[in-house]
Amino acid sequence: MKHLLGIKELDAVIVDSLMQRALALKHKASAQNLASYPLANLFYESSTRTRVSFELAARALSMPVVNFDIQHSSENKGECIEDTVSCLAAMGVRIIVIRHTQSELPHALAQKCSAKVHVVNAGDGQHEHPSQALLDLMTIVEHKPNLQQLKIAVVGDIRHSRVANSLQYIAALCNVGQLVFVAPTIWQPQTLHYGELTTSLQDGLRDADVVMTLRVQHERLLESEHLDLDEYRRAYMITPDILSLARPDAIIMHPGPVNRGVEIASAVADGPQSMILTQVQNGVFMRMAILEAVK
Ligand code: CP
Repeated sequence: MKHLLGIKELDAVIVDSLMQRALALKHKASAQNLASYPLANLFYESSTRTRVSFELAARALSMPVVNFDIQHSSENKGECIEDTVSCLAAMGVRIIVIRHTQSELPHALAQKCSAKVHVVNAGDGQHEHPSQALLDLMTIVEHKPNLQQLKIAVVGDIRHSRVANSLQYIAALCNVGQLVFVAPTIWQPQTLHYGELTTSLQDGLRDADVVMTLRVQHERLLESEHLDLDEYRRAYMITPDILSLARPDAIIMHPGPVNRGVEIASAVADGPQSMILTQVQNGVFMRMAILEAVK
């Protein structure tokens, strides 16, 4: 795998091998020594989980890590991002991990950059978040390995979510039994490439094996897409009561960051079915597997 740009560009064999490798690393398999692959983290959008886990993953593989300080970089003097990447490559950086507001910018950079450089998409606009989809799948497989039998319900602002988009691609590759997206009409996407849509939280949650909630992406909403948050809470927040519609052994997931009391009640986020911190933990192992694979 030369780059990780999106789940759309992967096939089921690569997804399975990343999954197996991440699980093996979690169960103490030896990590590769990639000391000759310096990595630069370029985060043009805020991040806690993705940025830190790529850094920890790289360090676990002995990679030198540069956390590029965009606010104090020469992009403030007019340098374009392509030249920034070229400069980093000229200094020996081999892996660029990039998060950016612009959809498909990682794809454009991968086409233009030196053949020695590997680009990893850490989230591009409303397009894809492939490492999140991979770590989410890893978390699901650990607890519910029969993917073809599962009902996965995803609740929230689907229209603006790159997580929801990558999840559709990975669910299609893995033949997930039923993928149901639950959202108010205003936050439903124009099209889905896998799964089904409903406005009914009750219908979505009924007999679900996995319930994933998503953050309201305030920063991406257009003027016409704002919804009263109290109204949203009343209709869509995951509470212990509404969760009783799902299977008793259902797992609760959230890619984070969590807005407690908006999309999910603290009693659910911190409850025994919650896998939210397991997702974060798995992120380090999945990103190790990704960094080993992109060479
Ligand atoms: N899930 C996710 O991308 O979280 P961060 O924004 O904290 O990286």
